[in-house]
Amino acid sequence: MAVKFYQKENQVPLEMHKVRMVQKLTLLPVEERLRAIQEAGNNTFLLQNRDIYMDMITDSGVNGMSDKQVASMLVADDSYAGSETWNRAKAALKEVFGVDNALPVHQGRAAENILAEALVKPGQKALMNFHFTTTKAHITRCGGEVIELVDPKGLKPQSDDLFKGDFNLDSLRNCIKETTPENIAFIRVEAGTNLIGGQPVSLKNMLDVAGIAKENGVISVLDASLLQDNVYFMKTREEQCKDMTTKEIYHTLADNFDIIYFSARKLGFSRGGFIISKDAKWTNQLMEFIPLYEGFLTYGGMEVRSIEAAAQGLLESLDMEYINQGPEFIAYLAKELDDYGVPVILPAGGLGCHLNCSEFVPDMPHNQYPAAAVGAAVYIAGGIRGMERGTVSEQREEDGTERYAELELQRLAVPRRVFTLSQIKYCADRVKWVWDNRKLIGGLEWTMEPKVLRFFFGRMKEIGHWQEDLAAKFREDFGDSL
Ligand code: F0G
Repeated sequence: MAVKFYQKENQVPLEMHKVRMVQKLTLLPVEERLRAIQEAGNNTFLLQNRDIYMDMITDSGVNGMSDKQVASMLVADDSYAGSETWNRAKAALKEVFGVDNALPVHQGRAAENILAEALVKPGQKALMNFHFTTTKAHITRCGGEVIELVDPKGLKPQSDDLFKGDFNLDSLRNCIKETTPENIAFIRVEAGTNLIGGQPVSLKNMLDVAGIAKENGVISVLDASLLQDNVYFMKTREEQCKDMTTKEIYHTLADNFDIIYFSARKLGFSRGGFIISKDAKWTNQLMEFIPLYEGFLTYGGMEVRSIEAAAQGLLESLDMEYINQGPEFIAYLAKELDDYGVPVILPAGGLGCHLNCSEFVPDMPHNQYPAAAVGAAVYIAGGIRGMERGTVSEQREEDGTERYAELELQRLAVPRRVFTLSQIKYCADRVKWVWDNRKLIGGLEWTMEPKVLRFFFGRMKEIGHWQEDLAAKFREDFGDSL
C-alpha cells in the first residue's frame, strides 16, 4: 500500500488517478433482474449491458483508459503498410520487454491459434501450469493434448502460498522425461493463472521453467496476458524482485522465454494482442500466419487506435501506481468477504475476486453447475455480472462425459481503473446477502448446450423454483430498495 492513513482503521486502497470520463449505470428492480437472467438462459454472457449495474464479467478490453491513451488514439496512422502507429507500438514493446521482434494479432486467442497451427503436431503434448479455455481449445483442435503441471498448492482454495500459479518442477522434469522432448510442442507458463483464481507465478519459478525447457531443447512460451498483475505480486511478494524495477522484471522474462504472447485487452489497457521474441527466429517462423489469419504485419487485425492505446498502455504497465490498483481492490473485496465467512480464493490474486462455490453451496453436485448457480444468484441480488469459471467452462471429454472442474469458481472480475471503492463495497454487501441466503440457491440444467466453448453461448434453466424464491426474499429484506 503506497499511502498510509493516519487512522489505521480507515485504511483503504487509495487510487493514484482520478476519473475524468464517466458512463451512466442502471440498476433494475429485483423482479426485472430475475426476468433478465432467465431470459439470458442463466448465462451471464447473454445478459445485456443495460440490465447490469456492476459488470464484473471480465477484465478484458474493459479497463479504464488514461488521458494519454485517449490522446494517443487521435494521432493514429492508418497507412496499410509502414505505419507510424506500428513503429510506436514496436518502440513501446522494446521499452517494456527489450525486444525488437513483434507481430500484431487481433487478440490473445489469435496468438494462440497461430502458435497451435505452427507448433502443435497431432499427438504432441503442450505442458503448462494450467490451461486457459481458448488456449486448450486451439491446442486440441490441432490434435495436441494439454498437460497441466501446476503445483498442488495452486488447487487449494485457501492457503498462505503466495505463488499458487507455480509449476511443480519435479512433475515438469518427470513429464519431459516420460513424454520425450520430440513429443512436446512447447512448455507454456501462464502468468496470473486465470482459471485457478488469477494466481501469480514467481519470477524464480518462471525462470526455472524456461531453464528446464532450454536444457531439454523444448520451446518455452509465456502467456503474458495477466503479467501486469503478476509483476505487481512479484514486486510485493518475492524477495528477489523487491529491488528490481518493473522494467527489469519484464526484460528478464523476455530474455529467458523463446516466445511471449499476450492479449492487449488485459496487458496494455486496450484491445488487440502481440507475439514477441528476443530471437527473430521465432517471430520469423510465425510471421507467415499473420497475413493469412490476421492482417498485414503492421496491424494484424487490430484497429490502429487500439494499437496506439496499447502502446501507451504498455508503458503504463511499468508504473506501480497504476498496476497496484487492480490487485489492491481485489484484495480489499476478498478480505471483506472472507471476514464475513464467505468462501473466496485466498490469497487474493489478480484479475478478480473468486467465490469458491464448492463451499458456497457444498451439497450441490458438479452436474447442477454450482458456480453458474451462484453467479445467477449474485446477479439477482445485485445486478452484478460475474463469470462462471467451473464445470460449465470446461469442455466435455471426447466420449461426452462431463469433465468436472478442479475448482468451481464464480469470478467477479475487477477491471483496472474502472470501479470506485463504494461500488466494491456494494458488491461485497450483496454477495454477503447471497451467502446468508445460500440455502435458497438451487441447481441449473442445460436447455441448449453448444459443443465448443459452451460457456459463451449455452443456455440453462433453474431446477425447481429457487430463483423466484430468492427474488421474493430480496424484496422482503430490502423493501423498496433497488
Ligand atoms: N490467455 C489468458 C491467460 C487469458 O486470460 C485470455 C483471456 C487469453 C489468453 C485470450 O485473450 O481474450 O484477448 O483472446 N481472458 C479473458 C477473460 C477472455 O475474461 O479471462 P483474448
